[in-house]
Amino acid sequence: MLNFTRSRSQPRGGARPLPMGGLDYADPKRKGNFLGKVFLAAGLTALCIIMIKQSPSLSSTSPFALSEPGVTHVLVTGGAGYIGSHATLRLLKENYRVTIVDNLSRGNMGAVRVLQNLFPEPGRLQFICADLGDQKSVNKIFSENKFDAVMHFAAVAYVGESTMDPLKYYHNITSNTLMVLEAMAKNDVKTLIYSSTCATYGEPEKMPITEDTPQVPINPYGKAKKMAEDIILDFSKTSDMAVMILRYFNVIGSDPEGRLGEAPRPELREQGRISGACFDAARGIIPGLKVRGTDYKTADGTCVRDYINVIDLVDAHVKALQKAQSGRVRIYNVGTGKGSSVKEFVDACKKATGVDIKVEYLPRRPGDYAEVYSDPTKIRLELNWTAQHADLLESLKIAWRWQKDHHNGYGVSNSV
Ligand SMILES: NC(=O)c1ccc[n+]([C@@H]2O[C@H](COP(=O)([O-])OP(=O)(O)OC[C@H]3O[C@@H](n4cnc5c(N)ncnc54)[C@H](O)[C@@H]3O)[C@@H](O)[C@H]2O)c1
Repeated sequence: MLNFTRSRSQPRGGARPLPMGGLDYADPKRKGNFLGKVFLAAGLTALCIIMIKQSPSLSSTSPFALSEPGVTHVLVTGGAGYIGSHATLRLLKENYRVTIVDNLSRGNMGAVRVLQNLFPEPGRLQFICADLGDQKSVNKIFSENKFDAVMHFAAVAYVGESTMDPLKYYHNITSNTLMVLEAMAKNDVKTLIYSSTCATYGEPEKMPITEDTPQVPINPYGKAKKMAEDIILDFSKTSDMAVMILRYFNVIGSDPEGRLGEAPRPELREQGRISGACFDAARGIIPGLKVRGTDYKTADGTCVRDYINVIDLVDAHVKALQKAQSGRVRIYNVGTGKGSSVKEFVDACKKATGVDIKVEYLPRRPGDYAEVYSDPTKIRLELNWTAQHADLLESLKIAWRWQKDHHNGYGVSNSV
């Protein structure tokens, strides 16, 4: 602004203020002077406009509040968590605009910082620290931002914990999904990709599990997700929202370039998932591995699971987003189609880490089921998706690299 004022005042100090007459155009020297000033003034004005537009304090509308042709703005709930952060990375790489909403109850600000550093340009990624159980916050977020789609990852997600604290699960999963759905409907957000789970099937008689396998969940985690699915299905009967429900199997692995990893809270270790426990045991954070249940009706007596690499999983999300159709709900299993036993998993983990992990065999854990693996035919035929990283050992090697380099996960600080 200073420069602009100065350029206007210059003529006053010159020989004489000239009216804009024919003579000025006839004098080449004066013409150059005049045009130069015009260009200077125009340039400075443009610079001021750019600065004002880019200044967050002066800008009235953030790019996240605007619908921009050719730009798809995705709200990623739970984007500070394990799967949500990997999904955000992929979306940003594919030029989506992303808003992460996470209350950091289980996620890591460190993961968000990694993403912010990779994509610092304005209008690419914003982070909002908020609880999806807080209706006021949810309504504010949806009214102040223009989302084209929601990937709803945010949830508490531990089977064991759900049996100890079921109400937490019904609130956090079922009730919060209802709130997100209401906000989407009110603000005309057109697409929902919902994170569901194979835990909604319970313990089916027949393997592999197809999308038509009856859903009979046997723990509050699976029940809460099934209820959330039911709410979405009922709502969809009279809505033109495009909905994709993805039922994941057991997620493992991490970004092959080592930027992101799985870093659950230390206090959740006991509840934790098998990969986290294996790595903790390999690093000596815990004395060894506790394998719960050796008398299941499986080949080696330990539980059998279908381990899906997180990179493949986020690929399924992007394909689902691209193929979602208005007024339709589609449901897909996301797994490899192949089961591996806990014993096989532990052996692969020992190989990947090079550590002879101590293993203790204990009685069954409440709420666990013997054998679960998917039939991924439907997603292959309809979304052209198949797991590309199905080698257990390879996935664990990559995840172990990140774990080794990140002894404290993303660090202890979760300040925003
Ligand atoms: N990890 C798996 O093996 C697996 C398998 C099947 C389904 N899923 C589903 O995938 C989704 C993501 O799981 P994950 O493994 O990345 O878990 P995670 O704990 O790493 O991430 C969940 C994120 O949600 C956030 N969150 C939780 N409650 C919230 C709330 N009320 N408001 C705002 N943010 C909240 C947490 O802070 C965390 O960052 C979950 O819905 C889970 O049920 C995971």
